[in-house]
Amino acid sequence: MIIYGADYNPEQWSKDVWLEDMTLMKECKVNMVNLNIFGWALLEPSEGVYDFSMLDEMMDLLYENKISVDLATATAAQPAWLSMKYEDVLPKDKHMNTVWHGSRQTYCPNSSHYRLRAKLLVEAIVKRYHKHPALKMWHVNNEYSDHTSICYCDTCAEKFRVWLKGKYSLEEVNERWGTAFWSQRYYSFSHIIPPRHTAADPNPGLVLDYKRFMSESTYELFLMEYDIIKAYTPDMTVTSNFMGNDNKPLDYYKWAKKMDLVSWDSYPDPLDSRAYMKNALTHDLMRSYKKQAFVLMEQAPDQVNWRSKNPNKEPNEMILYSMQALAHGGKGVMFFQWRQSLKGAEKFHSGMVPHNGTETKTYREVKALGHILSSMKEDDFKASVAIYFDYDNWWALEYEPGPSADMKYMDIVRDYYAYFYDNNIPVDFVFNGETLEDYDYVLVPNAYMLHDEGVFKDYVKKGGQLIMGAFSGIVDESDTVFSKGYMSSLSDVFGIKVLGYHVLKETKSNLLGHYSWKDEVKVLTADLLFDDDVLITKNSTGHGNAYYIGGRFDDYSKVLDEIIKIKGYDSDEGVSVRVGKKYVYLLNFTGLHKSLDFEGINYKLQPYGYKIIHL
Ligand code: GAL
Repeated sequence: MIIYGADYNPEQWSKDVWLEDMTLMKECKVNMVNLNIFGWALLEPSEGVYDFSMLDEMMDLLYENKISVDLATATAAQPAWLSMKYEDVLPKDKHMNTVWHGSRQTYCPNSSHYRLRAKLLVEAIVKRYHKHPALKMWHVNNEYSDHTSICYCDTCAEKFRVWLKGKYSLEEVNERWGTAFWSQRYYSFSHIIPPRHTAADPNPGLVLDYKRFMSESTYELFLMEYDIIKAYTPDMTVTSNFMGNDNKPLDYYKWAKKMDLVSWDSYPDPLDSRAYMKNALTHDLMRSYKKQAFVLMEQAPDQVNWRSKNPNKEPNEMILYSMQALAHGGKGVMFFQWRQSLKGAEKFHSGMVPHNGTETKTYREVKALGHILSSMKEDDFKASVAIYFDYDNWWALEYEPGPSADMKYMDIVRDYYAYFYDNNIPVDFVFNGETLEDYDYVLVPNAYMLHDEGVFKDYVKKGGQLIMGAFSGIVDESDTVFSKGYMSSLSDVFGIKVLGYHVLKETKSNLLGHYSWKDEVKVLTADLLFDDDVLITKNSTGHGNAYYIGGRFDDYSKVLDEIIKIKGYDSDEGVSVRVGKKYVYLLNFTGLHKSLDFEGINYKLQPYGYKIIHL
């Protein structure tokens, strides 16, 4: 069964509305709601005093109406009394200014008072509801690191020192961070502070380690809640909703390993003409973390309220995007939120039940979608191409000043991904340390920070086709440039030496496209696949081949046409074909009528229309 539902915030409504909600949920075939996401202030009106009366009633009501509950732990927004009572709760920005209470997700992840109150709250919730028959899933916090992804306060500074001591000696810190530069040598851990506002650029090693520390600090919060939940309900699914693929602060791969189910919140930008491709990429990333089906935990039924301009979704577009989730390995389609709020910061964010009720286009589509999903099943997908994705590299590459602020990791990844997407060739993502042998091709869009040399070498030796993009093999895990030269540790695999890079003043063009960057590549044993200012090389070694793409192109279609020998499916731009084990999905993300041949049959697609073919 496909999960269908939404964040449900009944605390904003009177009881007569709750009853209408039950009727409408059933009418729309909603089978699960995410409850209690922002419930803390109501549940704990003063320190240690709990009031579960509303939540009790709601859990029972949902159960009576056969709607399951993904119960949230409510720790994403602490009550005002907690922020005001303990000084360490509110986070500090780079300038050590307090980020004040008054919205949500405003807590320092290392605050002992936040941690203690959150722990006690979660214990109370879990003890109370772990046997409730409506409970089917746990929803830890909400979008960790949204709004507050980094804190620079003294508590964090102290914990950072402890974290560092657990990893390195003081001598190692000095060595890794290269503190010989600019007189930055440390003689005591107590002198180390977070990368707060500084006169000039802070030490890159410090910045990188602080990012790692913050990601781990937030992960500790998740683990704290996870352990409490598992102590009472070891077999129940635990998730925490991730944000989209632009969310850099958290190493989601690491998190996903611990979570039973990956879920994420998708808000494609209606003004971005390639939003559907970017959204598909994130679906693929989310499925790939565990190589398992994920849940689309939130999307907007119609418009959002938080961009500067928030156009509505086109007719059918919301249903199309819901199908896209299934077509990339989703097993649930949910929304923010069930009923559009009348008050508060998000009152102009759409809901499944809009301000103007059930006669609206949004409600009609919500109801139609529920009926469509009720007869569908989760699907399974196979990819022979993998894209290597690495959080540490992302964090390191984007330290500025660098050679070029245009070298943005997600942009590079997307520009490569687009080739496969446009050719309807399925892609998985793989991560640091994973085995690559299941794939015919592994593409590493950028490995500025290189730490999987062994895995890459082995893959090529055993017959893999490894492709690596420009500005790779520059630094090790401590962000120190390889003393033997760029790409030196992979020189034998790629059969090249990289002697430097050029950031072009203006974009140039050759037969393969437009490029803004080129590496200076010296060929050793590799063959030249292309040689016009930018070099593309191929080295046959072991049983496989290693390709190096020595330039940053804005479109890799012609480049990859030289290398990839897989045939996808032909389709117009904006029309996507996904072949699963149960269904084929034809998705039209354009506002035009489209037609498409699939295995000898011609299919007509309405604007923002889709077609599901049963296999
Ligand atoms: C998400 C968040 C929801 C809601 C939604 C609005 O980031 O988890 O609570 O704010 O955005 O689009």
